[in-house]
Amino acid sequence: MIAKLLLDRKREGRELAAEEIRELIAAYTRGDVPDYQMAAFAMAVCCRGMTDAETLALTTAMRDSGECLSWDDLPMPTADKHSTGGVGDKLSLIIQPLAAACGLAVPSLTGRGLGLTGGTADKMESIPGYVAGLSLADYRKVVMACGCSLTVQTGEIAPADKKLYALRDVTGTVPSIPLIVASILSKKLAEGAGTLVFDVKCGGGAFMKTRSDAVALARALVAGAKGAGRKAMALVTAMDEPLGFTVGNALEVQEAIDVLKGSSRAHDVVDLSVELAARMVSLALEMPLEEARAQCRTRLANGSAWLRFDEMVRLHGGDLAAFARLDSGVEATATAPSGGFVAAIDAQKVAQAAFELGAGRGQATDAIDPMAGVRLLVAHGDTVAAGQPVAKLYAQGRKDRLEAASRLVREAVSVSADAPAPKPLVLEEIA
Ligand code: URA
Repeated sequence: MIAKLLLDRKREGRELAAEEIRELIAAYTRGDVPDYQMAAFAMAVCCRGMTDAETLALTTAMRDSGECLSWDDLPMPTADKHSTGGVGDKLSLIIQPLAAACGLAVPSLTGRGLGLTGGTADKMESIPGYVAGLSLADYRKVVMACGCSLTVQTGEIAPADKKLYALRDVTGTVPSIPLIVASILSKKLAEGAGTLVFDVKCGGGAFMKTRSDAVALARALVAGAKGAGRKAMALVTAMDEPLGFTVGNALEVQEAIDVLKGSSRAHDVVDLSVELAARMVSLALEMPLEEARAQCRTRLANGSAWLRFDEMVRLHGGDLAAFARLDSGVEATATAPSGGFVAAIDAQKVAQAAFELGAGRGQATDAIDPMAGVRLLVAHGDTVAAGQPVAKLYAQGRKDRLEAASRLVREAVSVSADAPAPKPLVLEEIA
């Protein structure tokens, strides 16, 4: 394989053979193809696109660049949910134990947050003692014991993606559907779940800002997963407003716990968790969706999902009693500028506020404050009086940033004289 010849052909928009793509990725992973050639390849793909066959070849080549897990020794089917990431998206903390409580195993490796995007591993590590960085062997033991585990992805999974994603990040080659699909799917396929359900977020607080881009990504993810032999479907879901009332690591864990214990008024979080978990159960167990939905609602209401979560946290070394004793202390309160109805809550602005307060990291090596973040006190459609508190802000060690964050939250909450129309959560379903 001569990389330059492949680059010439891709630049001209000609299709590469699966074997050529496989050799390119293997050589890049070994270090035999330099970053400058791979960056040129990524840019050629950005400009010329890829056929479905090329995308599948890139996906499987990246999957095979590292370890591929097999769960054939488990007695139950395996399924996983992948979200493209949203503000206040704590759904994995609920869906994983919920799907496990419905009889599935959920082998899902999670990520850390970067920029405005939160990471499930960071959220879980706000529980004292919780170790997200398990070895693959220990991760397997936890999944076997309680049906789920929230473990941070190790370098053994799809190392070609780790290298290529870092390169794309600095060469303007992130926004390409074939490259995004290969990046997401290579990791998900390597994790080995038989069923994959994608939650493709769409809107101002999401990676995909427009409905057409979100639907195109959802279709490509489902086609790629099916092409690689998995059962798959996707929901395109709204991400203009934060999910639930909390944005920030420990705050989100507490909200997820409240949902699992049945004491949360975050109906969007409950409903979307049930919709996604029900798709996993329905596809994996070949059960009608209505029945799967009813099963999810029951397992959430009767505490079975909570017991799975509790057990998973214990197996990861976490101490939920110590978590319950944590006190982040309210540092500021944002108030409504006028009275009326809450017409919109800008997810991007709330995410920026949480970031200012120390909930996120600018660079992969930065530390985060697990207690920092924003707790909204109102939801879409609520009535508010002028000066009424609409959010509490938590910022240990970031008092200097409180003012900027409070301003962002005030700007995020739009109040109107008329009651807004309810906002649908699920915009489209791709089977
Ligand atoms: N998330 C990924 O894992 N990869 C991408 O390319 C984009 C989002």
